[in-house]
Amino acid sequence: MANILITYSTTDGHTRTICERLRQVIEDQQHSVVVSWMSDDPDIDLEPFDKVVIGASIRYGKHQPQVFNFIRENQTALESKPSAFFSVNVVARKPEKNRPETNPYLQKFLTKISWEPKNLAVFAGRIDYPSYGFVDRQMIRLIMWMTKGPTDPTSTIEFTDWDKVDEFGRKIASL
Ligand SMILES: Cc1cc2nc3c(=O)[nH]c(=O)nc-3n(C[C@H](O)[C@H](O)[C@H](O)COP(=O)(O)O)c2cc1C
Repeated sequence: MANILITYSTTDGHTRTICERLRQVIEDQQHSVVVSWMSDDPDIDLEPFDKVVIGASIRYGKHQPQVFNFIRENQTALESKPSAFFSVNVVARKPEKNRPETNPYLQKFLTKISWEPKNLAVFAGRIDYPSYGFVDRQMIRLIMWMTKGPTDPTSTIEFTDWDKVDEFGRKIASL
């Protein structure tokens, strides 16, 4: 039985939902999982964990700065044990941008860190227009309109492929 940490950064909570799904899948394989919000515990000690997974969402083209800080401060530990990284964004709803090799945010992210995670995933996120403030809602509608996505301001759309999340969970369990 392995002790696995899944730490995440989120703005609207969907990355946390994905982490909880990963927890279920990994616990079904008889491992122990701690899911931790990076903002709650940025100095968490990685020593007790056998594997570490980092998940982070995109907002206005970027992962949050705390993700870079966390990786920089824990790079030695991350390199010394099985680890993984996944990114959550809505560009990944497009089939041609839904793999680590083809997702522009993940590719850009990898050029900005010196850690080289061997296990990568990208998941399409969620758009919840009614929950956004006016400016964010209009900005996302504009981006969606430009990229031929849904623009109805009363709608909530989940693009996440949960089978893909489950598959990643099983992969982490077997690392
Ligand atoms: C204000 C705002 C800006 C966003 N910017 C982008 C973006 O630049 N590119 C993208 O692919 N997705 C973008 N998204 C979509 C988010 O990545 C998506 O909603 C994701 O599910 C958010 O995850 P979280 O709830 O864990 O923060 C944006 C969403 C919001 C609300």
